[in-house]
Amino acid sequence: MRSNLNTLYVEIGGQETIDKLVDAFYPRVYEDEELRPLFEGDIEEIKNKQRMFLPQFLGGPALYSQEFGPPAMKSRHLPFEITPKRAECWLNCMKGAFVEIGLYDTPAGMAFYNRLIQVASIMVNSSDTTEE
Ligand code: HEM
Repeated sequence: MRSNLNTLYVEIGGQETIDKLVDAFYPRVYEDEELRPLFEGDIEEIKNKQRMFLPQFLGGPALYSQEFGPPAMKSRHLPFEITPKRAECWLNCMKGAFVEIGLYDTPAGMAFYNRLIQVASIMVNSSDTTEE
């Protein structure tokens, strides 16, 4: 059973694990036809922000807020059309990355992934189109 004494950040293995996850995640995003069109910014900057945000999301150091201010993730995602389909693709890329680095089958990893499922659904700001 997962101890409540440590943050999820510590339990998953800290920054080293986050860095591995980010490296495993973004190549999948760029290979995904649904997601690729959204990610036109500088890949290094996008990865860097994620490397700073996820530790804070898991109760670790607030690196992201120290540099960029309040997370406000819902509003930061508003410029991008995030449909339920895209949220599903984003989560699938994450799942693949979790599996690749051996995080998916651990209790702390599952707790982390479940939090991402919740936040991904909050990020949805557009409907799927009916014609496909
Ligand atoms: C639901 C599906 C999601 C999609 C399609 C999506 C897409 C995007 C896009 C297009 C950007 C901007 C990239 C750029 O700067 O060019 C972005 C930024 C970001 N996303 Fe997501 N995202 C999703 C969910 C999430 C979730 C669940 C989290 C965290 C738990 C997250 C964390 C971030 C962070 C930290 C940034 C950088 C924000 C900034 O500009 O400072 N995203 N996302």
